[in-house]
Amino acid sequence: MIKLKGITKTYYRGKVDTPALLGIDLHVRAGEFLAIMGPSGSGKSTLLHILGLLDRPSDGSYRLDGTEVSSLSDDELARLRNDKLGFVFQSFHLLPKSTALDNVLLPFTYAGQFPADARERAKRALARVGLEPRLHHRPGEMSGGECQRVAIARALVNDPEVIFADEPTGNLDQRSSLEIISILQELHAEGRTIVLVTHDAAVGCMCNRVLRVVYGKVQSDELVPAPTQAAQQLQALPETAK
Ligand SMILES: Nc1ncnc2c1ncn2[C@@H]1O[C@H](COP(=O)(O)OP(=O)(O)O)[C@@H](O)[C@H]1O
Ligand SMILES: [Mg+2]
Repeated sequence: MIKLKGITKTYYRGKVDTPALLGIDLHVRAGEFLAIMGPSGSGKSTLLHILGLLDRPSDGSYRLDGTEVSSLSDDELARLRNDKLGFVFQSFHLLPKSTALDNVLLPFTYAGQFPADARERAKRALARVGLEPRLHHRPGEMSGGECQRVAIARALVNDPEVIFADEPTGNLDQRSSLEIISILQELHAEGRTIVLVTHDAAVGCMCNRVLRVVYGKVQSDELVPAPTQAAQQLQALPETAK
């Protein structure tokens, strides 16, 4: 599904060049749940943004479902992104004055296409993450974990093949983190491909494969034989942590 070969990225800012990726080869098959781990500043977010078509590499080849994406225009990239990919960020990236429902409707607004069943789809996506009772709440009226679930519903509303998440549990307590990973594990079990960045080794153990990136290079790439089930961990939490 995803094939990277020799991907490099250098940021040019003023007179300073920052090489962020030094040549990444990576093959992600449909249905994988991949964690990207590594020290701060090692290029994880840069890699995720390139994978998610939010940024372009400086050099190298990226084939997504057989299409060489470097040859596509910005408009074509935006369409591909909207059709096939969903995103979740550490700080949720919700519009603070909009309700959960309106936040989940945003992808339709951006695409300039509002299907007749858009609201139904948004409601279904919110129900999928357990937020039927919060349709008309604004981000300030919800917990961090609930905000992240809204963000997941927004990523789901276009029925994407791949979900990318950059430190989705980075701002959350243990219980909310487990709830978020549990939802991602369910989506994975339904056949979706998931790629997330995390610095939390416990989260890495809940994915099926861990790629370690250090200073812009792949240091290791290992399968996780028996991923921990977040739902079970959640049940095992002591009452005080619930
Ligand atoms: N927009 C940018 N402009 C300039 N340098 C950047 C930009 N984004 C990231 N960098 C630099 O690229 C390197 C990799 O950053 P990043 O991909 O954010 O790492 P990570 O997510 O692993 O912490 C760092 O040195 C960072 O300072
Ligand atoms: Mg980062």
